[in-house]
Amino acid sequence: MAHHLHCLCLLTLYWTTGHGLEGKFSGPLKPMTFSIFEGQAPSQIIFQFKASPPAMTFKLTGETDGIFEIQPDGLLYHNKALDRETRAVHKLQVSALDAHGNTVEGPVPITVEVKDINDNRPTFLQPNYEGSVRQNSRPGKPFMYVNATDLDDPNTPNGQLFYQIVMQLPKINEVMFFQINNKTGEISLTPAGSKELDPSKNAFYNLVVSVKDMGGQTENSFSDSTSVDITVKENIWKKPQPVEIVENSTDPHPIKITQVRWNEPGAHYSLVPKEKLLIFPFSIDQEGDIYVTQPLDREEKDSYVFYAVAKDELGKPLAFPLDIHVKVKDINDNPPTCPPTMPVFEVQENENLGNSIGTLAAHDMDEENTVNSVLHYKIVDQTPMSPKDGLFLIQSYSGVFQLAMQSLKKQDVPQYLVTVEVSDKDFQTRCQVQINVIDINDQIPIFEKSDYGNLSLPEDTAVGSTILTVQATDADEPFTGSSKILYRITQGDDEGRLGIDTDPQNNAGYVIIKKPLDFETTAIHNIVIQAENPEPLVQGVQYNASSFATFTLIVTDVNEAPQFPQHIFQAKASEDVAVGTKVGNVTAKDPEGLDISYSLRGNARGWLRIDPATGDIFSAAPLDRETESVYRVQVVATEVGGSSLSTTAGFHLALTDVNDNPPRLAKEYTGLFSCHPLSAPGSYVIEATDDDRQPFRGPQFTFALGSQSLQNDWEISEINGTHARLSTKHTRFEERVYNVPIRINDGGQPPLEGTVSLPVTFCTCAEGSCYRPVGHLPGIPTVGSTVAILLTTLLVIGIILTVVFIRMKKNKGKLNVESAQASEVKPLRN
Ligand SMILES: *[C@@H]1O[C@H](CO)[C@@H](O)[C@H](O)[C@H]1NC(C)=O
Ligand SMILES: *[C@@H]1O[C@H](CO)[C@@H](O)[C@H](O)[C@H]1NC(C)=O
Ligand SMILES: *[C@@H]1O[C@H](CO)[C@@H](O)[C@H](O)[C@H]1NC(C)=O
Ligand SMILES: *[C@@H]1O[C@H](CO)[C@@H](O)[C@H](O)[C@H]1NC(C)=O
Ligand SMILES: *[C@@H]1O[C@H](CO)[C@@H](O)[C@H](O)[C@H]1NC(C)=O
Ligand SMILES: *[C@@H]1O[C@H](CO)[C@@H](O)[C@H](O)[C@H]1NC(C)=O
Ligand SMILES: *[C@@H]1O[C@H](CO)[C@@H](O)[C@H](O)[C@H]1NC(C)=O
Repeated sequence: MAHHLHCLCLLTLYWTTGHGLEGKFSGPLKPMTFSIFEGQAPSQIIFQFKASPPAMTFKLTGETDGIFEIQPDGLLYHNKALDRETRAVHKLQVSALDAHGNTVEGPVPITVEVKDINDNRPTFLQPNYEGSVRQNSRPGKPFMYVNATDLDDPNTPNGQLFYQIVMQLPKINEVMFFQINNKTGEISLTPAGSKELDPSKNAFYNLVVSVKDMGGQTENSFSDSTSVDITVKENIWKKPQPVEIVENSTDPHPIKITQVRWNEPGAHYSLVPKEKLLIFPFSIDQEGDIYVTQPLDREEKDSYVFYAVAKDELGKPLAFPLDIHVKVKDINDNPPTCPPTMPVFEVQENENLGNSIGTLAAHDMDEENTVNSVLHYKIVDQTPMSPKDGLFLIQSYSGVFQLAMQSLKKQDVPQYLVTVEVSDKDFQTRCQVQINVIDINDQIPIFEKSDYGNLSLPEDTAVGSTILTVQATDADEPFTGSSKILYRITQGDDEGRLGIDTDPQNNAGYVIIKKPLDFETTAIHNIVIQAENPEPLVQGVQYNASSFATFTLIVTDVNEAPQFPQHIFQAKASEDVAVGTKVGNVTAKDPEGLDISYSLRGNARGWLRIDPATGDIFSAAPLDRETESVYRVQVVATEVGGSSLSTTAGFHLALTDVNDNPPRLAKEYTGLFSCHPLSAPGSYVIEATDDDRQPFRGPQFTFALGSQSLQNDWEISEINGTHARLSTKHTRFEERVYNVPIRINDGGQPPLEGTVSLPVTFCTCAEGSCYRPVGHLPGIPTVGSTVAILLTTLLVIGIILTVVFIRMKKNKGKLNVESAQASEVKPLRN
């Protein structure tokens, strides 16, 4: 390519300068190719070959066509305009000769390519064309073509043709029915043309088609035009009319039912089902005739749709598939059928004449709303024919059953079987219907007797006792709500003391005591019982006197024990109440109104006394909360006269506290000792207690020495509310037992004080315990150096313990002093 440009430049330069330039536009002999536009002015210099000795001159041979020449000095040129359409490539040879005309170099090939210029117009091969197209042909499928030629190089725009429809006649609503392939000239239908062309409306069209070179892209292109006449032909590839086939045909199959035809012969036809089918009973032959291949059954499938397809020999569809509709026509080939299960109707004994009882709905498979499926009903049998035949009617076209006569009696015939003949145009079927007769509540319960007489019962008859059996009967169907009997007491039992249960087997009524009878409230009950059905009676029937019965319940008196209004009486008293104070009362009543005598039982401490007449309860001795905080006794109410029946109840007397106990030591302090002689003052911790109820924060005792004279030897100091420390003030104590009197005050309301004597022993010690030589104390057996612990124990016996009780009685305000003498151990009160 570089070579080509090179040479074009050369020519241009030659044209402007007229002189060669060494190296570029001239050179030594070698194979070369030049490109030169056709139609250029003559005498154009192409190249200047330079000779190198011994070469002197040049010679040109080959396809010069008399146009190319070379001068002896090597200047190559052409003397006429070139024409690409005459010869597109000139193959030349150049040889270099010496002075003798002998070839010294070459011949060397020199190629001259003639470049095209658009110097030829396109031309249609025919001045006018004719063609035809079928209605409804596929859009875009060519049915003819136009063809133009252009002598210019088809590899350049000069020879590239562009086809175009310039005009369509006639043209309705600006819609183009035809289109042309702008490269090939092939003419086809547009989609609108495929749809709308109709030879019956307009069968002839004329197109003006133009062709342009330069690809049609410039204004300078040459053009030509031609006329195209097109005939639109009828399309015979059309869907046939819907087909009707009578079902269950006995004619020999296959039977031709319709046909399709492609516009030209030679098409290949086939059928395609539209829906999935087990068996596809249609076929098509290569003439396009369509057959049904076997008898059809409308009751199985009443219509078919499928497609007919035409293809060319390569298997490509020629056109749209056609849909074929087949309808299967009914014939009366199905008898009526009974309902899958036998219908069961119910009719009441007293059903009104003409009432609808039920509907027999038989079925016919043949086409609905045609004579083939219209059914006709007729009763042909009634079993049993009792009390007579013709008890029922059936409506001929609806199958509705009606009651024809009012003679039904369940007790006699509980059930009928009716046979119905159901027929369509050609067939008869027999169906059976069961009719059950239903009892109605038209019978009232009737008592076996209207008066059950006098019934005498003691008032203490147990609740739940059955006191009477009554009986009524009902003639309606057993074990239904029409015959079951409910007994109801309508008079004489306002308190609801009685109830009546019905035996479901035999309708017996058991009169039962539901609440205790009471002679004192009502002694005589005039009871009226009504017998009823749970179901309402039918209209026109009423309960009458036969459904009522009476009896007289006479309640007899029974002597009953007195009754306390409560099981336990509770009272409260201060523990220091004076003897003889009233602390409570009890009251009992006798149902018979007898007098009552009260007494106590379980009065173990003898603290209480009851007034036998009034039930008032008094204290009979000093009470002590610390002994028994709640004093429990039983009170007995005994009727005076009668059967001396008695009732007991509890009487609980809660005692409230008063400060009536002096403080005391919490335990017996018998083992307090120090070794004699004392080496240093000693001390002992003691604890006090009190039997009265103590305040929540605990007792607050105060401690003091029993007498002033002891203050030289002893000292007592409080630790807290319950504890104190007794200390010796010196060491000069004798070897003996000192009983130290200590006063303890409880600080109560009023305060009580107790004086205790605390024994403290000063003894000779051995191994940390008291040791006493034998015989030192009379009456104390000692055995040598027996264990000191034993001695200590013996010592205790010798201790004289004096406890002084001071009881201060509020009511008396006097001091009780009790004392215990030495050598006697007084047990402490708890
Ligand atoms: C058109 O005509 C030319 C010249 O006769 C021919 O070569 C070419 O095949 C034709 N085109 C068609 C599509 O037939
Ligand atoms: C020629 O036809 C082709 C398709 O057939 C289209 O793409 C192209 O645009 C057309 N050229 C012109 C210039 O209309
Ligand atoms: C065809 O008709 C006959 C009587 O007409 C009947 O017996 C048969 O069941 C019918 N077949 C079908 C498939 O309906
Ligand atoms: C039932 O008792 C009443 C009195 O309460 C008495 O007049 C009547 O005669 C008695 N009847 C029978 C059948 O005993
Ligand atoms: C009550 O009615 C029944 C029939 O339902 C009849 O037999 C009976 O005699 C009637 N009783 C009275 C007391 O009228
Ligand atoms: C019995 O004691 C209650 C209070 O416990 C008193 O209301 C009632 O009047 C007393 N009855 C008699 C008869 O004293
Ligand atoms: C009082 O003191 C004694 C001895 O120190 C101690 O054991 C006791 O727990 C104390 N009591 C109270 C209530 O603090």
